[in-house]
Amino acid sequence: MSKTIIIGACGQIGTELTLELRKRKGVDNVIAADLKEECPDILKDGIYVKMDILNREMVREYIIDHQIKEVYLLAALLSATAEKNPDFAWKLNMEGLFTILDLAKEGHITKIFWPSSIAVFGPTTPRDNTPQYTVMEPTTVYGISKQAGERWCEYYFNKFGVDVRSIRYPGLISYTSLPGGGTTDYAVDIFYKAKAENSFNCFLSADTELPMMYMEDAIRATIELMEAPSQKVKIRSSYNLSGCSFTPAQLAKEIETLQPGFTISYSPDFRQQIADSWPNSIDDSRAREDWGWQEKYGVKEMVKIMLENVNVNLMA
Ligand code: NAD
Ligand code: SER
Repeated sequence: MSKTIIIGACGQIGTELTLELRKRKGVDNVIAADLKEECPDILKDGIYVKMDILNREMVREYIIDHQIKEVYLLAALLSATAEKNPDFAWKLNMEGLFTILDLAKEGHITKIFWPSSIAVFGPTTPRDNTPQYTVMEPTTVYGISKQAGERWCEYYFNKFGVDVRSIRYPGLISYTSLPGGGTTDYAVDIFYKAKAENSFNCFLSADTELPMMYMEDAIRATIELMEAPSQKVKIRSSYNLSGCSFTPAQLAKEIETLQPGFTISYSPDFRQQIADSWPNSIDDSRAREDWGWQEKYGVKEMVKIMLENVNVNLMA
């Protein structure tokens, strides 16, 4: 079995992706890498390497020396954090991608996964059932970096035959690790506050509808896309992917059904403007046609699982 590395493995997606890939490929074949000094306890059964994706030489040396053939590049600044430090967000989100694309172009790596986001869309994009191909004028530095990344992925595929695959993830909801500074994070935070205080003050307005997905679906989609035969992966920029869509008010209502007395209040901040520029819902028919995508989790199932599993100590 060839070796796989996940760069950004200690984050919200990386933690769960590492666990699932280790189950499938064997613990010793899946290396977790991140900027952090130490990885979370649940990843300590396998190899962990402290790696800064911006250290191009170190990354190149490690991947070449260890004969790593598959790379999942997850290290990035997400939408809200990126707006606070746009120069660095652009640097981090772009330079790391070029380091990995170049390694593949030179023949050291055979397959890359790089995630894009619903943030590639902007205020001029049709908001309901947003098509795969449509107007894309993102207004956040995060969205601009993801759109540019998509263009470069497709370019490296067309020009150099680099096998790079990508999904435009919606907001992801999970309980194993905390989210890392996105606009959709409210839909995770709400469960911790529901458990701890039975109330939540939301940084988005009541009727802000956004596309979301339960993490298990996102991990399965990622692996299904990576395992699909190359000829089925017809889009080499990034695939639209849909799970469910809801507003904070709708999510609160579902929580209240299972946890009577739960209340929500609203204090929209700078993230409202970001959310207002993103789609309400996504048309993912190309992912369904090309590699058989089908979501499993709707809002009700996701709410039940989250309320049963969030550990309020994680937030402390
Ligand atoms: P996260 O912030 O939870 O995790 C990112 C990880 O990258 C962190 O562990 C961080 O320590 C690490 N990292 C940061 N800088 C690094 C560096 N220089 N070198 C190595 N590691 C570094 O993010 P996430 O939610 O897991 O997202 C992962 C990817 O998926 C990102 O590209 C993000 O844009 C994309 N994405 C996430 C969501 C979501 O809802 N979580 C939605 C759409 C797209
Ligand atoms: N969840 C991400 C964010 O809010 C979307 O890419 O930044």
